[in-house]
Order: sequence, then structure tokens, then C-alpha cells
Amino acid sequence: MLDLAGRVALITGGSRGIGRAIARMLAEHGAAVAIGARNEAGVSRAVAEIGALNGGRSAGMPCDVRRWEECERLIGHTVAAFGRLDILVNNAGVGVFAPVEAMSLEEWHLQIATNLDGVFHCCRAALPHLKRAEGWIINVGSLAGKNPFAGGAAYNATKFGLLGFSEALMLEVRHSGVRVCCVMPGSVATEFASDQTTGADWKLHPEDVAEVVRDLLAFPARALPSRVEIRPSRPPSKP
Ligand SMILES: NC(=O)c1ccc[n+]([C@@H]2O[C@H](COP(=O)([O-])OP(=O)(O)OC[C@H]3O[C@@H](n4cnc5c(N)ncnc54)[C@H](OP(=O)(O)O)[C@@H]3O)[C@@H](O)[C@H]2O)c1
Repeated sequence: MLDLAGRVALITGGSRGIGRAIARMLAEHGAAVAIGARNEAGVSRAVAEIGALNGGRSAGMPCDVRRWEECERLIGHTVAAFGRLDILVNNAGVGVFAPVEAMSLEEWHLQIATNLDGVFHCCRAALPHLKRAEGWIINVGSLAGKNPFAGGAAYNATKFGLLGFSEALMLEVRHSGVRVCCVMPGSVATEFASDQTTGADWKLHPEDVAEVVRDLLAFPARALPSRVEIRPSRPPSKP
């Protein structure tokens, strides 16, 4: 079994959905876990839940990843609480699905700022710590990062961009011992998209994505799976 005792992980958007499942998995394997998200009550709830799994080694604070200062503060808070940082999971993300003509400027900027600026902010602030720990950056991308679809222009742009960012960063930091991977799920049953039905039984579960992360962390230091796709086995057939 993967043993993360002594390791410290930070998950953005760890208060629900995929981030919460990853945070729970890391805590169950012995890591100290910090999370950030915008909603304070959501953060407090998740910190208590994670702490019940790993003997109270959980922390968190409200953090809007669109803001550099808040990302710096969250990473500082994590290192102050646990002394190091080994695993950064850039999971916070939003999707607004609409034709370009109908999309507001706010909706466009929300997605770019959350899904791209947010990842850059957290990587930039975390890298000195991750280099010391020879740690991991796991970016939660999407199959929308390689498969465009009508109504997904803004979201597709962010996730295509994230894949490029992730792979360039991987090449940049691997000689410093930091491994970077982009995990790209298909549809997952979460509250992510208001136009999606949650809990559809053909969808992935958040825990399936957490299992991918667990398996990544179990690879020996010489090996780096840098892009992982995971999709529902039996989605509804397209006509
Ligand atoms: N669900 C899917 O089908 C699917 C498929 C592929 C990839 N993904 C990706 O998986 C990631 C997680 O999605 P999910 O399905 O778990 O969504 P979710 O259930 O809506 O959870 C999103 C999480 O991100 C946080 N968040 C949103 N905006 C934020 C911001 N500006 N700063 C900090 N935290 C923020 C949310 O908390 P607050 O609202 O409190 O901030 C929440 O904790 C996203 O990157 C998404 O693109 C999802």
C-alpha cells in the first residue's frame, strides 16, 4: 500500500468533487493534507473531514486561485503548518458551456483566470518547496484538453492550454526532481456543470480520479507518467 507518512499535499478546490476525493485518498494513505477553495464553510467542512482520516493533520484556508497573493498565502500556510510541501494538486476549475456569441466577457475571464492563471500562480509559489522535496505537481486537466466540442470553446481553450503548460513545465523541472503530470478525466459525476445531471451511472466517480493519482504517486522516482487519460467505459452511444 502507498505510504505517504511524512509527506505533505496541497489540493486546490479540495472542498468537493474530484479535489475532495483526492484529498481523502491522500489522507487515508497517511499524508498531511491542506486544501483551498473560495467558500469558507466548504473549506472548514472538508478540513474536519480530512482530519478525521489522518489524525488531524489537515489544514486549509479560503483561497481564490485567481489571485496570486491568496495562492502565495495558502502555500505559506501549508508549509508553516507542516514544514514542507511534497505534492501540489491543481484541481480548482470551472466550466461555462455556451456558444462564443452568447458567452459574456465575465464567463470567459472566469475560466481563463481560474483554470490557467490559478495553476500558474500555485506552481510558481510552490516550486521552491517542491524542488526541495523532489515532489509532484498533478494538474487536473480534462479530455476537453484534446477533444474540442461545440459550446466548449472557452473551457477547451483553458484545458488545451493547461496541457501545454503542464508538459512544458514537466520538461523544465524534471531535472530538479519535480515530476509533473496532467490527469485528464472524461465526465465525472460531480456538481461541476449545472447543465449536467449529477450521479449519472455511466460517469466516472471522483474516487476513480483519486485512484489514478494514488497510482501515479506509487511510481518509482525514475518513472514519470506525464499525461494520463481516464474516461467512462460505457458512455451513452452517440447516434
Ligand atoms: N466533473 C467533470 O466531469 C470533470 C471532467 C474533467 C475534468 N474536470 C476538472 O476537474 C476539476 C474539479 O472539478 P469537479 O468536477 O470536482 O468540480 P466541482 O465539484 O465544481 O468542484 C470544484 C472545486 O474547485 C473550487 N473552486 C472553483 N473555483 C475556484 C477558485 N477560483 N479558487 C479556488 N477554488 C475554486 C470549488 O470550491 P469553491 O466554489 O468554494 O471555490 C470546488 O472545491 C476541474 O479542474 C475540472 O475542470 C471535471
